[in-house]
Amino acid sequence: MAVKKQVKAKTAKAGTGKTEGRKYGYFDDANREYVLCNSATPIKWCNYVGTLNFGGIVDTTGGTVLCKGDPALNRITKYISQMPNSDFKGSTIYIRIKDEKGFYKLLSPFVVPTCTIWDNWECRIGLSYTKWIAEGYGLRVKVTVFVPTNSSTLIQDISVENISGKSMEVDVIPVYEFSHFDALKQLTNADWVPQTMTVEAHRERSGHVIQEQYAFMKKKYAVNYFTASMPAQSFECDRKAFLGFNEITGWISPYTLYKGDLTNSTALRGDNIASQMFKFKLANKKSARVATQLGQEKNIAAAMPAIKKYRDLKNVDKAFADLAAFWDNYLAALQVKTPDASFNSMVNIHNPRQCHTTKNWSRYLSLYQLGFGSDRGIGYRDSSQDLLGVMSHMPEEARLLVENLLSVQKEEGNAMHQYFPSTMEANEGDSREEEDRPKYYGDDHLWIVLTVASYLKETGNMKFLDKQIPFYHKKKELKAREKGSVLEHLKRSLAFTWKDRGKHGIPHLGFADWNDTVNLPTGSESLFNASLFAKALLEMIDICEAIGDKKLVQQYKNWYAEIGNRVNKTAWDGKWYIRWFDEKGKALGSNKNKVNKIDSLGQSWPVISGIAPPERAKTALNSVNKLLNTKNGIKLSWPGYNGFDPHVGGVSTYPPGAKENGGIFLHANPWIMIAETIVGNGNRAFQYYNQINPAAKNENIDEFESEPYCYPQNILGNEHKQFGLGRNAWLSGTSSWTYQAATQYILGVKATFKGLSINPCVPKAWKEFYIARKFRGALYEIIVKNPKGVSKGVKSVKVDGRELVGNVVPVLAGKRHVVEVVMG
Ligand code: GLC
Repeated sequence: MAVKKQVKAKTAKAGTGKTEGRKYGYFDDANREYVLCNSATPIKWCNYVGTLNFGGIVDTTGGTVLCKGDPALNRITKYISQMPNSDFKGSTIYIRIKDEKGFYKLLSPFVVPTCTIWDNWECRIGLSYTKWIAEGYGLRVKVTVFVPTNSSTLIQDISVENISGKSMEVDVIPVYEFSHFDALKQLTNADWVPQTMTVEAHRERSGHVIQEQYAFMKKKYAVNYFTASMPAQSFECDRKAFLGFNEITGWISPYTLYKGDLTNSTALRGDNIASQMFKFKLANKKSARVATQLGQEKNIAAAMPAIKKYRDLKNVDKAFADLAAFWDNYLAALQVKTPDASFNSMVNIHNPRQCHTTKNWSRYLSLYQLGFGSDRGIGYRDSSQDLLGVMSHMPEEARLLVENLLSVQKEEGNAMHQYFPSTMEANEGDSREEEDRPKYYGDDHLWIVLTVASYLKETGNMKFLDKQIPFYHKKKELKAREKGSVLEHLKRSLAFTWKDRGKHGIPHLGFADWNDTVNLPTGSESLFNASLFAKALLEMIDICEAIGDKKLVQQYKNWYAEIGNRVNKTAWDGKWYIRWFDEKGKALGSNKNKVNKIDSLGQSWPVISGIAPPERAKTALNSVNKLLNTKNGIKLSWPGYNGFDPHVGGVSTYPPGAKENGGIFLHANPWIMIAETIVGNGNRAFQYYNQINPAAKNENIDEFESEPYCYPQNILGNEHKQFGLGRNAWLSGTSSWTYQAATQYILGVKATFKGLSINPCVPKAWKEFYIARKFRGALYEIIVKNPKGVSKGVKSVKVDGRELVGNVVPVLAGKRHVVEVVMG
């Protein structure tokens, strides 16, 4: 990627000790990959394959977390993420050769678990696939791992080429370890779990082996299977047999593999694995290829069509090409060319890709949110926001998730905090666990108003507002639950917050607002909830105008005016807005406080919601720049709590500078970028964009540590000694909001009920840029010129050569339209 000083990294030797001073990897934009050349990443780096329907995580050392539909309730592989990166984690491949003396030597293309040092090694992290290429010991080994679109099969496409100059015998031995489907039970119960688990193998007449794994109670309706494109010489189902010698030599050097072939074991209980051995005799320059399949179906008969299909390597190639075509099509929804190559690469590839990932996994399964038990699930506020990042790319898939979210909104109008996709059961998140705090969140139900508005503006499908969806009721069966139209759901969201206001006329905090970790006693008020409510009202006013309901428009305008007045009367602190009133009415996020004097959301959201008058907006944003900004991003608040304070709760469990306690919580950064574009400060918005661009941190991985190809959730702030250290990659609202900031506010192209609105706010130095945006069935190619070097302001717009009045390009018939914009 196009980070300015980028030098293509030399291929670093895998393993440890030989990489000092070298980079970890580089961006290969032409192939839409990040190429890791050094397996010894500072922390685990990973990629996602497949979707929540079937898929999971593949890390750069070959470890795999796989599930179908639900990581907590239908997990397939066993991956314990807290183990060192050197350990086996759910899957690996052994390559076995003989050394000069005729002794076996074991290699792994993933380096782990055999600790193989290759001459050349790279791991290409691509769009829903990871590919390894390892050279050494006379071999070139290639492995590609992916899930074909709309399938329930994980494919490992393995090839070995003899480059030794003489003929060689090579054995290829892939292995997966299974988890109990109830992922948490696998970790907490070592009695019941192993008694229920079985793997048996069937050898077909053709010699192919199918290994079938199931938990006893699922035997009749969900079995996992492992098979390959070619007959196996031998196989193993029991981990004890695979590792041999009562497992004492471990995964690094399985005794059985040094002794001979696999023993064709069955696993009647206990530690379930699937492994097969494929033997090749390769003349010099010859190669062999085998593709394995790990899948789940009702039974083996139901799996046979897929098994047969992917045994044919031509179909494996086609599935891989189809996956690339899926991404071509997906990314084509919005492509840009700006003077900044690093911005282009992020906006064209990595950021929309991450939005697709957060849309799928919410905060359910990552190397940080581990998807065990009822800890996470699909988060109401999280997914509502994630959907804003995919709306221009997959609005109808987004709508389906919106429907699920609305179905866990309660009759009263507020929402359950999270739900589990395979059962649609919902719960109140952490608020369940604190006795003396409210049992609901003050913000969940408001986000969905933004999401529905975004869907309607993108598609124009106003009929969706009439769709009947049930409200959630814990004690009522689905059939007995009250139903309401989507519009009714939204009305109840707003009515809930309007009623649920405190002493200052500001909405109550609930257990928490967006900031999960500030859990003040019942009766506290949240200025953020006030702004989010105001923004939701603006969206609802747009919707009601579009459907011609004047009465509702007026009602919501009144509410909007009232909430704005209350905020401006009660919450202006002199140079910024305060953030909360506690149960006694005391301000928090105020200059009067000793800690937590200023909070970033307190400033961004009054601007985003239009509540802040222009002068206050600028003053507040200048305070953010002065007190919260750092070279690694904007801190959420300052100063941090230095010790546990039961009054505020969670935030004070972190040391100052970490996470919500004065850390750089990235999710809140794009909100400041957006606010800066609203006040017309394009240079600053772009500076803030660059500060958190993970790709720009590729030069500085030893400090940042996290994956450079996706946003992490947090970076330690400058109150912490490890300032700059990133954590919690992939599943963060940062992805959706940074994408919105870049495309809808910096580039300024936004769907509205009337068409595509164009209102960029860019760095003054940008003289020209280009956006291709698909919208309601047509492609709009937008060329923006900025001859006077302004940040904001549209002087003229021509559509297909014709002058337009205003800056909203109407929905046009025809497949392609050219839009010429002049700023000034
Ligand atoms: C985490 C949570 C999200 C919350 C944020 C701030 O990212 O998933 O729901 O808003 O932290 O506390």
